[in-house]
Amino acid sequence: MTDRYAVIGNPVAHSKSPFIHAEFARQTGQDLVYERILAPLEGFRAAVANFRAEGGKGLNVTLPFKLEAFQIANERGPRAQDAAAVNTLKFEGATIYGENTDGVGLVSDIQTNLGFSIEGRDVLLMGAGGAAQGAVGPLLEAQPARLVIANRTLDKAERLAERFRGARGLRVDALTASGYRELAGQQFQIVINSTSASLNDSVPDLPQGVFAHDSLAYDMMYGKGMTPFLELALAQGARQLADGIGMLVEQAAQSFLTWRGVRPETRQVIAALKAA
Ligand code: ATR
Repeated sequence: MTDRYAVIGNPVAHSKSPFIHAEFARQTGQDLVYERILAPLEGFRAAVANFRAEGGKGLNVTLPFKLEAFQIANERGPRAQDAAAVNTLKFEGATIYGENTDGVGLVSDIQTNLGFSIEGRDVLLMGAGGAAQGAVGPLLEAQPARLVIANRTLDKAERLAERFRGARGLRVDALTASGYRELAGQQFQIVINSTSASLNDSVPDLPQGVFAHDSLAYDMMYGKGMTPFLELALAQGARQLADGIGMLVEQAAQSFLTWRGVRPETRQVIAALKAA
């Protein structure tokens, strides 16, 4: 029987996940279908229960349900624990396994696709919301010299950093929280924008000079071409610019691996999405 998977969210019509997973299934010869489920804002649990009752094997969870997905999981992977958010659910008998593949997707994209090693580098993560939450654990695992979480609301960045102190033997001494203005005089080789500012065509108030000479500027946002953040990075001398398409495909590949035990090739799928 063909196994069923889906992406569940609200809204979900724009999701590229069905395209990505159909490509992965074709490439790896896996017998599966992958749909879209629009869940009512108050109806996530019921929609998941319904999908499971119909024999569904797994879900990708997108906004605004990643926290609820974390709550309904009765087993959780280490990245889900760190992030306190789940983007991948796998159903096996009574087990609802929850994992978070967003951060691993980001790190794979930076290191493998873009060829920027994180180890020993100074990394700036802008934003302390849901998108940042998933990224901190995997970024620390990649052993940067320093990871600074900068946020407009400093308190939120501090709470996020605090969550990782002592967690899983990660190098917490390398992790600090900051406001944007306090970044003046500091330089980073990798600057990641996880804020939703690009959605409103704005950009956090970064001081001049934070982009090191040969730095990578990474916007988790995609589908907008040049974002205000990438424009700013270009003007300030970042060497390489990237949007979140690679992260999107890499997190999908990691979910596919969680479900099927095979990690698909991502390069052609990324290229196809970039060309679309
Ligand atoms: P998400 O789950 O997409 O990360 P979120 O949890 O609402 O969304 O978080 C949005 C992030 O973008 C936050 O870090 C927010 O900063 P605050 O915590 O100070 O609100 C950040 N953000 C949104 N718009 C911004 C802007 N115009 N300038 C700076 N930061 C912004």
